[in-house]
Amino acid sequence: MFFHPPDFCVKVIVMSLFKKKCENRILPRHIAIIMDGNGRWAKKHSLPRSSGHVAGAKTFKDIARYCNKIGLEYLTVYAFSTENWKRPKEEVDNIMNLLRDYLKDAENFKSDNIKVKFIGNLEPLADDIKALMKKDEEGSKDATGLKLNIAVNYGGRDEITRAVKKIVADGVKPEDITEDTVSDNLYTAGMPDPDFIIRPSGEYRLSNYLIWQSAYAEYWFSDILWPDFKPRHLEEAIDDFNRRNRRFGGV
Ligand code: FPP
Repeated sequence: MFFHPPDFCVKVIVMSLFKKKCENRILPRHIAIIMDGNGRWAKKHSLPRSSGHVAGAKTFKDIARYCNKIGLEYLTVYAFSTENWKRPKEEVDNIMNLLRDYLKDAENFKSDNIKVKFIGNLEPLADDIKALMKKDEEGSKDATGLKLNIAVNYGGRDEITRAVKKIVADGVKPEDITEDTVSDNLYTAGMPDPDFIIRPSGEYRLSNYLIWQSAYAEYWFSDILWPDFKPRHLEEAIDDFNRRNRRFGGV
């Protein structure tokens, strides 16, 4: 075993530059990601769409771990929308199986101290998936690191409609309804709104994602397909976030 001083010095310099970079910038509190482009990535590599989702699931884990490492407070990822049921049954089954595999993986994020929560209308999901989700949430409830929301069968309009129904069912008088009343009845109740929304794959839309919560979010779009999305792309996006001038309707 040889010791290479130049290698060691390079490592120290790179680490201290990374530390300095992290110290001097503002991290968003809550990043939300639309994990798009799995299908096109698979096509590009002459693979079935299911392989794109497998690669996308790996990227999801890598990026969640990286967000935890840099000290991000909240990350919300769009894994399956209320509209995704329209896809061929085989593809829906593939995505559900990936979710199942992820949930069964006992290691998951336990050793990473990541707190997991599933948001969306979970009712129509398979019973075993619902049970595993509950177990995952229970098992990570005391984690103090990244708070990770995984949106499954999630739709922003569906979420707002459900909130309105709940408010009405609770008998709240119209004059007592405020914006906070609505926020408090969303899946994200008690969390800060996402301040940064990332959508790779060259699409420039929200696709029914966190439409109430993203009223004042900053957006970052890129042509990178989700399976190719690396921590350095996240860093690039955060650097861009730091250059934004957020006025929230003021001057
Ligand atoms: C969008 O790409 C992606 C989805 C609808 C599924 C996202 C699922 C994963 C990343 C894997 C499962 C996640 C977990 C949490 C284990 P697309 O299929 O619309 O791609 P395309 O627009 O290129 O066709």
